[in-house]
Amino acid sequence: MEVVIKRDYDQMSKAAAQLVVDVLNTKPNAVLGMATGSTPLGLYQELVRLYKAGHVDFSRVTTFNLDEYVGLPANHPQSYHYFMREHFFQHVNIPQHNINIPSGTTSNYPAFCQWYEGRIAECGGIDLQILGIGSDGHIAFNEPGSSLSSRTRLKTLSKQTIDDNARFFERRESVPVYAITMGVGTILDARRLVLVASGKTKAKAIAHAVEGPVTSMVTASAIQLHRDATVIVDGEAAAGLTMREYYEFIYAAKPAAPRA
Ligand code: PGA
Repeated sequence: MEVVIKRDYDQMSKAAAQLVVDVLNTKPNAVLGMATGSTPLGLYQELVRLYKAGHVDFSRVTTFNLDEYVGLPANHPQSYHYFMREHFFQHVNIPQHNINIPSGTTSNYPAFCQWYEGRIAECGGIDLQILGIGSDGHIAFNEPGSSLSSRTRLKTLSKQTIDDNARFFERRESVPVYAITMGVGTILDARRLVLVASGKTKAKAIAHAVEGPVTSMVTASAIQLHRDATVIVDGEAAAGLTMREYYEFIYAAKPAAPRA
């Protein structure tokens, strides 16, 4: 695992965007795994900026989102369909038929989850999966206790996640209790992972995920099992890392490291 510590949110976002661009420069028809939440917003803004400046082209890209709330239609302002359209898809040239997001309104969740897994495989698998991390250590909606081999399925959100996400809804009671989410096993199948985290509320989760034992109680720790994972954090999110100086030393000594 590579741990990259940037001085602030902006630099974290730019470094993550550069990684996406590097993948697309080598493979213009790459399959990207997309994440929602407040953390990747800066990354999407930077990708939109690079697209508008002509530095990246998405015309052959396929995307798969990690998760969606159960019960929210695609036009609901808090749905992840809406989030992705608002913050990314409407600003770039990914063909609509190449965009895949779990359905929050299917009448048959098990069948849909199976179809979603099959669709990822049909498209050749995910080349780069973007990830955030929950303050309870989740990746996607794989809450503590999720099997590290899990596949796309329905999950009940943890109390911590409902509390964290209540800020986006008018009332806490409006936060959906269920989500459809890629599993930890689905995520680990991606060829490359990039996890972004910012701010002191993520410091504990990042320390556990990067340096703690691999455990289903912190599903982000499963990225330690991945052979090509990059964790990009800002200084505050890095605050709990005991090996911080070592990660900074490695990054500074990296021959082609971008110096931001
Ligand atoms: P956040 O969510 O970026 O809004 O903090 C991250 C997550 O829950 O995965």
